[in-house]
Amino acid sequence: MMEKNGLIRFFEEHNRLLDPGALDLLLSQAHPLDLSRTILEEDREDIVITAKVVGRYLAGTRRPPEVPSFRMIAQGYSVPTRSAEPREAFHALFTDRFRRLHHLLRSRSELKNIVPVSSVAGHVGEEVSLIGMVKEVRSTKNRHLLLTLDDPSGETTVLVPADSPQSKEPFLPDEVVGLRLWVSKEEGKFARVKEVVRPGLSGGRTSGRSAKPSRTVFISDLHVGSKMFLHDSWDQLTAFLRGESVNPELAQEVRHVVIAGDLVDGIGIYPNQEKDLEITDIIEQYREFGRRMREIPSTVQIVAIPGNHDAVCPAEPQPPLANELLKLLPPNLEVVGNPSTFALDGVVVEAYHGRGFDDIIPNIPSARYERPTEVMKRMLAMRHLSPIFGDKIPLAPLARDGLVVDPVPDVLVTGHTHTSGEEVYRGVLLLNASAWIGETEYQRMRNVKPDPAQAYVVDLTNLGVTKLDFFGGPPKGAR
Ligand SMILES: [Fe+2]
Repeated sequence: MMEKNGLIRFFEEHNRLLDPGALDLLLSQAHPLDLSRTILEEDREDIVITAKVVGRYLAGTRRPPEVPSFRMIAQGYSVPTRSAEPREAFHALFTDRFRRLHHLLRSRSELKNIVPVSSVAGHVGEEVSLIGMVKEVRSTKNRHLLLTLDDPSGETTVLVPADSPQSKEPFLPDEVVGLRLWVSKEEGKFARVKEVVRPGLSGGRTSGRSAKPSRTVFISDLHVGSKMFLHDSWDQLTAFLRGESVNPELAQEVRHVVIAGDLVDGIGIYPNQEKDLEITDIIEQYREFGRRMREIPSTVQIVAIPGNHDAVCPAEPQPPLANELLKLLPPNLEVVGNPSTFALDGVVVEAYHGRGFDDIIPNIPSARYERPTEVMKRMLAMRHLSPIFGDKIPLAPLARDGLVVDPVPDVLVTGHTHTSGEEVYRGVLLLNASAWIGETEYQRMRNVKPDPAQAYVVDLTNLGVTKLDFFGGPPKGAR
């Protein structure tokens, strides 16, 4: 049963209001969230959703709407504005990021008396709050942190006392945070940070579950075309999906496979890659990938996103594959941009390849590639998948920041690290979906121990996870 407050918040997050009659009517339906999504998608005119509006949709359907097997909710990638010069375009990107994360933070009860960043210094002897984007983090010789933040009004520098709880969680450049501050009466002293509030997950958010038996297999990083592609493990996985292996009753319920990027190994991705390639032509790599996909039953819908090894622009968010490549792939495979948020039988999944790990991990001393879900929790806390500008990950200068996590998914899946991990964080299932390639030189160099050929099979009726290990032989971990 959906929570009343969750539904109200869902409409608020989409800048709509729900009148009490409409709320009661929605709550009386078997699938209030699905009906709400349909209304929001199709009705662009009514700011206030009344019982009459809901009734119109019910009359049109006469029964709860059929939940589609796959429904795109939001692609991170959007078409760039042609005329904008780079500086303007990046300004638009950061303005959009700030605006959307500010919207999430401004109603937080911890942040009382929110003032523009430029006016903080004028509130001497007061406790105020600000919402700002982290511009710079410095340490003083006494190990206090000096944090410079900006917002559209200007910038200010505040002090995070050494050894205070607020200094324990590192600040990342370009993340948006809320701060509760004490502005000292003494002249020349920096305002002190008393509390840090990150956008995080709103308490009563909505959640979707499938009403009928449905399972999704989550995998990632196939790297088809590499000499290290795990042919045997792949054959084991597809045999399982065809019901020719262990747990055929589990396989029978699989309606979707999600692949979180690096579909092929690509060419020219790193120096001397040629010596690691079995297939040296990019078109032939995708042709082979298409062949591999056809080994999955055609009744299973496959949803895939590109990664940094795929033949699309590397700046994030990435667009879907070009039509020329798509025509090599089977019709039951949908390639969408990286990241993308979509619903599978009513369960909202956000798939992100995960290159953001490469920027976030070096900035958080405790973060490790082997513990990907720890980093994913931080992504949700920031409500951003890869905020840092100008480091390793190129960001695409789009008018809408497609790396902002909105809406909050039921399942967040990443790849890229070639490790694996699962964890439930405040109701969101976090999955780092392993890889179908053996250990690479690059990983040996970075001392990252991969955990390949692991498939997560998720029951969409309850988000229960079965992990199947296809590495070196028939699946282990099967019931
Ligand atoms: Fe990869």
